[in-house]
Amino acid sequence: MLVRIEKLSNLGYGIAKHDGMVVFVEGGCPGDLAEIKITKKTKNYANAVIEKIIEPSMHRVETFCKMQKVCGACQLQFIDYNYQLELKKQITVDALKTIGGIDCKVNDTIPGPEIKNYRHKVQYPVSETKVSKRILAGYYKAKTHEIVNIKYCPIQPEICDKIIDFVRCNALKYGVSGYDEKRHSGDLKHIVIRNSAAFDENLVILAVNSEKVSDNLKNFCRAIFDEFDKVFGVCINLNPKRTNVILSDKTICIAGKEYIKEKLLDKTFIIGANTFFQVNPKSAENIFSYVRDYISNNFQSPAVLDAYAGITAFGICISDVCESVVSVEENEQSCKLAAECLEINKIKNVEINNMDAGEFFAKEKRKFDAVILDPPRKGCTKDSLDNAMRLCKGKIIYVSCNPATLARDLKYLVEKGGKILSVQPFDMFCHTYHIENVAIVAFA
Ligand SMILES: C[S@@+](CC[C@H](N)C(=O)[O-])C[C@H]1O[C@@H](n2cnc3c(N)ncnc32)[C@H](O)[C@@H]1O
Repeated sequence: MLVRIEKLSNLGYGIAKHDGMVVFVEGGCPGDLAEIKITKKTKNYANAVIEKIIEPSMHRVETFCKMQKVCGACQLQFIDYNYQLELKKQITVDALKTIGGIDCKVNDTIPGPEIKNYRHKVQYPVSETKVSKRILAGYYKAKTHEIVNIKYCPIQPEICDKIIDFVRCNALKYGVSGYDEKRHSGDLKHIVIRNSAAFDENLVILAVNSEKVSDNLKNFCRAIFDEFDKVFGVCINLNPKRTNVILSDKTICIAGKEYIKEKLLDKTFIIGANTFFQVNPKSAENIFSYVRDYISNNFQSPAVLDAYAGITAFGICISDVCESVVSVEENEQSCKLAAECLEINKIKNVEINNMDAGEFFAKEKRKFDAVILDPPRKGCTKDSLDNAMRLCKGKIIYVSCNPATLARDLKYLVEKGGKILSVQPFDMFCHTYHIENVAIVAFA
């Protein structure tokens, strides 16, 4: 059937209408006139693929990566970057309206300062070919667990390609095999690399299907460490369970150090294997300075709560403009590293709490001038939002990586008397459908 793509969905599909039915078209760009084939039909919507583009959208561009069509990572790379930014704003507006019933102004999306080589955390699943036992490492083909063997990825630092290629070419020499997901056999499940944008240090983590570290694995880790000046540490993560979780909580450093340094604004951070840290630090700096500027322009010596704090990145970046910061985070390693970051940066006015945010909120008695909420994609529970309102004297700064849960949670805050002052989208994951937003909500 012939359709005109009208919009982009929050998962990066083109949206068209046919006989009143909404059709999600894979690889569709708003403006395309295309012949499509339906791949799935339900009562409310259909999915489709493009058979032929009859009239391409004026926003289509050549992709800069040859693998874009097969690799599931950069869904929007075929769309002009400036138009990607407009679409991300539109997706936020639509989510607020349809999910939250909210009709407020949304600012223009702030672009990523670097739109290539920006991804500083790389996680490639690993397998091996059936007959020749060659190691394969790369992203999964969209909607499958089939690995696309990626030798060059333009959205990550070049050194990551080199490290991964070394692993690919040398694992077998050290008696390390690739993982077979179906049989749950073989050694190497994932290669994870943390790269620091400011210091160009790299931490390599090999996630293996094993309960202990074999001599083969140890020797292989040392070989990786010796090969690259810029690799500051190589670790093994023991992950013998049949699971989708990439890293278990058991990481053992085999060569060098178990963490690397990174800088955000003027503050130094340390990042370990399991630490949550923003994947695109340059773009994250835009978000952190936006929040810091908001706080310094609107409060004098405030007390701020940084909830879902990770390594307390917000708390540390805003500490200079606050009287005090209290952070809460459930991950123990992130809290330990946060405490070390306070020492490194000589910060004395930040208190770290290693516990579940919900439990912390429920027992906390102090009041805060502003509460920063930066939850995972699933957003906050109603209980947490109720408690955040109880603990804040005036402002909630909600940082979100999912417009749908942001809209749901803002709806709840507005129902409880909140007034949305601003919604600011940021492009952190250029060429993907992901969007970060900072919403500021005021309470009388
Ligand atoms: C989106 S990250 C934000 C991290 C941090 N604000 C930053 O910018 O680096 C969400 C964080 O929430 C933490 N988290 C998830 N559920 C939590 C909970 N129930 N209580 C406390 N922390 C939680 C995760 O471990 C993760 O570090």
